[in-house]
Amino acid sequence: MAFFKLLTFLSIIVLSAGRLVVHESRAFAPHGFVRGGAAPAGHMLTLRVALASNNFAGLQDRLMTLSTPGSSEFRRWLSMDEVKSFVQPSPETLAAFTTWASANGLNHTIVSPNSDWVSFTLPVSQANQLFGANFEVFTHLAMTTSIVRTLSVSLPSELVGHVEVLYPTTQFVDPNSLLGHSTSVSLEQRLPTASCNTSDPNGVMNPICLQELYGVPANETTKNTNTILIPGYAGAFAQPSDLELFLQLNRPDVPSNTTFTVTRIDGSSASDPDFVGLEAVLDLQYTIGLAPKVPSVFLSVGGTDFPQALLDTTTFIDGLESPPSVLSTSYGAAESTFGDSMAIKLCNAYMALGARGVSVLFGSGDGGVRGLHDDNTTDCSNNTFIPIFPTSCPYVTSIGGTAGFGPEVALNLTGGGFSNIFAAPSYQTAAVASYLDTIPAEFPGTFNRTGRGFPDIALQAWNFEIVNNGTTSLIFGTSAGSPVFAAMLAMINDRLVAAGKPTLGFLNPFIYSTGSAAFTDITSGHNSGLVCPASSVAFDAAVGWDATTGIGTPRFADLLTAAMGPA
Ligand SMILES: *[C@@H]1O[C@H](CO)[C@@H](O)[C@H](O)[C@H]1NC(C)=O
Ligand SMILES: *[C@@H]1O[C@H](CO)[C@@H](O)[C@H](O)[C@H]1NC(C)=O
Ligand SMILES: *[C@@H]1O[C@H](CO)[C@@H](O)[C@H](O)[C@H]1NC(C)=O
Ligand SMILES: *[C@@H]1O[C@H](CO)[C@@H](O)[C@H](O)[C@H]1NC(C)=O
Ligand SMILES: *[C@@H]1O[C@H](CO)[C@@H](O)[C@H](O)[C@H]1NC(C)=O
Ligand SMILES: *[C@@H]1O[C@H](CO)[C@@H](O)[C@H](O)[C@H]1NC(C)=O
Ligand SMILES: *[C@@H]1O[C@H](CO)[C@@H](O)[C@H](O)[C@H]1NC(C)=O
Ligand SMILES: *[C@@H]1O[C@H](CO)[C@@H](O)[C@H](O)[C@H]1NC(C)=O
Ligand SMILES: *[C@@H]1O[C@H](CO)[C@@H](O)[C@H](O)[C@H]1NC(C)=O
Repeated sequence: MAFFKLLTFLSIIVLSAGRLVVHESRAFAPHGFVRGGAAPAGHMLTLRVALASNNFAGLQDRLMTLSTPGSSEFRRWLSMDEVKSFVQPSPETLAAFTTWASANGLNHTIVSPNSDWVSFTLPVSQANQLFGANFEVFTHLAMTTSIVRTLSVSLPSELVGHVEVLYPTTQFVDPNSLLGHSTSVSLEQRLPTASCNTSDPNGVMNPICLQELYGVPANETTKNTNTILIPGYAGAFAQPSDLELFLQLNRPDVPSNTTFTVTRIDGSSASDPDFVGLEAVLDLQYTIGLAPKVPSVFLSVGGTDFPQALLDTTTFIDGLESPPSVLSTSYGAAESTFGDSMAIKLCNAYMALGARGVSVLFGSGDGGVRGLHDDNTTDCSNNTFIPIFPTSCPYVTSIGGTAGFGPEVALNLTGGGFSNIFAAPSYQTAAVASYLDTIPAEFPGTFNRTGRGFPDIALQAWNFEIVNNGTTSLIFGTSAGSPVFAAMLAMINDRLVAAGKPTLGFLNPFIYSTGSAAFTDITSGHNSGLVCPASSVAFDAAVGWDATTGIGTPRFADLLTAAMGPA
């Protein structure tokens, strides 16, 4: 498996103790980062180290068994301790690391419930020497503070095979990823109609229209044992008063004091007056607007380091005896900026959440084939497509975007394409192969034909009405579809729980097999982005799975029937 290629490759090298082996490097920092000279020798770095899990291959096999329809163990999700037994490092790995750390005077602490991450603090001079690194200061126009990174990092030979990631070292994630996918347009006057105006292809989307379009029932849930977790990064926050007004306008049948709970980690102090992003507003108004009786929990994550925030979100959930049944996230960044080792480790963390029974959803990005944020730096003639992570991880369900009614079409901005890190997983190889067959031999786009294809499915992503700071506005982006699907899944989970069945958990093997008939195939549209002209090279929607809308848009009743399975 591609997930283990780095480790497998390195562990067969015969090593002599004390030698340094290059672990990860890049020729230069990604676009936007500017070198600012050597980091001061005495500057203290806190490094996180991922120790090799003792049996990720075993967890992966187990997850495929648990998530594949027809298996006798279908959806028998694992407990916290069962997952830990696969994820924690082996005694040999722990011993190798501890011996090395104490020989070098490093005092490390275990920082994850599965004991797979440890942390220690050391001066730059020692880090440079121990890891054959050259830590430098880097700045970025969009960042208020500089960061310390290195273009290359090595491992002492005695740690090779035992250490998977050193963070932060060679990872450079564009801070703009923290802004989520959404842009808003103010709605001067609220449109009079609450239902879908199917004669207006760019009509306003709201909960009542989504109920009509996807057949989502108005009040389905009876259990409160299943929750939706919405993480918010970079200070995103939602005002409960906006949700109240949103419900009054869009769901007059629901008590307008229905609200969400807030959990904070990593020193988050985001609050109403500091409100800086629309992402939390959109996500919570649509999970609660569609599934008002399902508890929505907003996880406000502090800090400005995106990979770290993603990691801390997974370790927070790993530590919960009763994890949320759905995790919906509307953030992402160019896959290459994470670097292979961090992307693989985070993806394995989503695998572990899937095995606990969490459905992990990510928006597929808003920059079409050319990346998350297509802005004035986008070169529309550059046909090297840019995949987005975490949505490119095969253990998340990637949500693309559509617009219009009867029929819906792939929205130009929808992220979609193929990973350069993760190979196509078995559940989608047939579907993806059929799509690749439709791409002409002379196609000028450069992408990885063996990579994991995304998105998996799609939902509306254009002109969503929200209430922000007391006024209505319209917002668009694949950020919108993820909370809508999260609400649909939560309603289905409620029915499953009521029937004494396990919740949906890791979805993809189901949605590509017995669940696929519950999706409406979207067959037209082109994801050239919002900035580039529609004539630019991009992927087209097609019959069957495609790299703009996956297998299509969900129909609630059919998805429920498929999820309930044979009586
Ligand atoms: C090692 O770290 C632990 C936990 O952070 C701390 O309590 C202890 O004082 C440290 N010991 C030394 C020698 O720094
Ligand atoms: C529906 O959309 C059409 C086309 O934009 C518009 O003319 C009509 O007024 C809209 N109807 C309602 C009820 O908003
Ligand atoms: C659902 O809504 C209908 C009205 O639309 C109401 O009669 C019914 O009692 C509601 N059911 C639940 C479980 O709240
Ligand atoms: C919401 O309002 C109803 C009355 O309309 C009240 O009974 C209920 O306690 C309120 N719930 C909260 C959470 O304030
Ligand atoms: C993009 O355009 C905006 C507005 O014209 C400008 O403020 C910004 O600096 C530009 N960004 C880049 C990276 O050129
Ligand atoms: C095209 O985009 C790719 C991916 O971002 C980049 O590596 C390459 O340098 C770009 N090519 C040109 C000619 O700008
Ligand atoms: C293409 O993807 C595969 C995984 O499917 C990966 O091993 C390979 O390195 C990728 N190639 C490039 C050029 O990124
Ligand atoms: C919210 O609206 C108030 C006026 O109602 C305004 O003073 C304030 O600046 C607005 N806040 C933001 C973040 O737009
Ligand atoms: C993208 O699609 C939207 C919605 O259909 C449309 O309004 C917009 O003009 C399109 N943008 C481009 C650049 O094609």
